[in-house]
Amino acid sequence: MKTTVFNNQELEQMEGTQRAMLINSLPGYKPAMLVGTRSEEGFANLAIISSHFHLGSNPPLLGLILRPTSDTSERHTLKNALASRCWTLNSFSLEQADMAHQTSAPYPSDISEFDACAFGVEQKPEVSAPYVEGALLQIGCSLREHIPLSINGTHMLVGEVVHLAFPSTAQRWDGGLDLACLNLTTISGLDTYSTPPAGIRFASAHTDHKPRRL
Ligand SMILES: Cc1cc2nc3c(=O)[nH]c(=O)nc-3n(C[C@H](O)[C@H](O)[C@H](O)COP(=O)(O)O)c2cc1C
Repeated sequence: MKTTVFNNQELEQMEGTQRAMLINSLPGYKPAMLVGTRSEEGFANLAIISSHFHLGSNPPLLGLILRPTSDTSERHTLKNALASRCWTLNSFSLEQADMAHQTSAPYPSDISEFDACAFGVEQKPEVSAPYVEGALLQIGCSLREHIPLSINGTHMLVGEVVHLAFPSTAQRWDGGLDLACLNLTTISGLDTYSTPPAGIRFASAHTDHKPRRL
């Protein structure tokens, strides 16, 4: 098998889009979620993100990496989340991937991606940010920590889960969610959407036991 190898100098000199496509592929299959926020002017905003991650369970914390507004592009999610101190995370199915992807287009701040991309708005009491109506997994987050990352100007937001909704049948006896029941979509790179199969499960690993299938 022929192997392609790049060193850091070659990566630095690579054409920008080629490098972005390559480096975005490296984390493998990533979570695809729609982030709902509301602007100070009251406009509902929706954007697809793949950078959300688990930070801790007690308290229940999820992180996000967001790009800020630059000279060439306005980023509403970060601005809204910092102003309102909350956001929602919403799942979508593979059938909805085209319109979920479309939320990444640079709509102006007074155009809601909910309307432009045909997602319904659902409002709940815990956070002022809007949810995607009918999303099988809906997570409401309240801002707990904001860390600007000086290395590349992105921002890490740490949110505490203050509201969670999913079909009861998706929860297993051990508390975990059977994600296959939720029809979740994953992203590879910046443009490829898929739904993984149910997968295989293992009991927690111990040094004196062989791996045990559940
Ligand atoms: C597959 C995919 C994943 C993305 N993930 C992120 C992300 O994790 N963080 C981010 O800041 N932007 C991400 N983007 C870009 C935003 O969706 C895009 O900049 C969007 O226009 C932001 O909308 P806003 O201005 O309403 O915040 C992603 C785009 C795509 C297509």
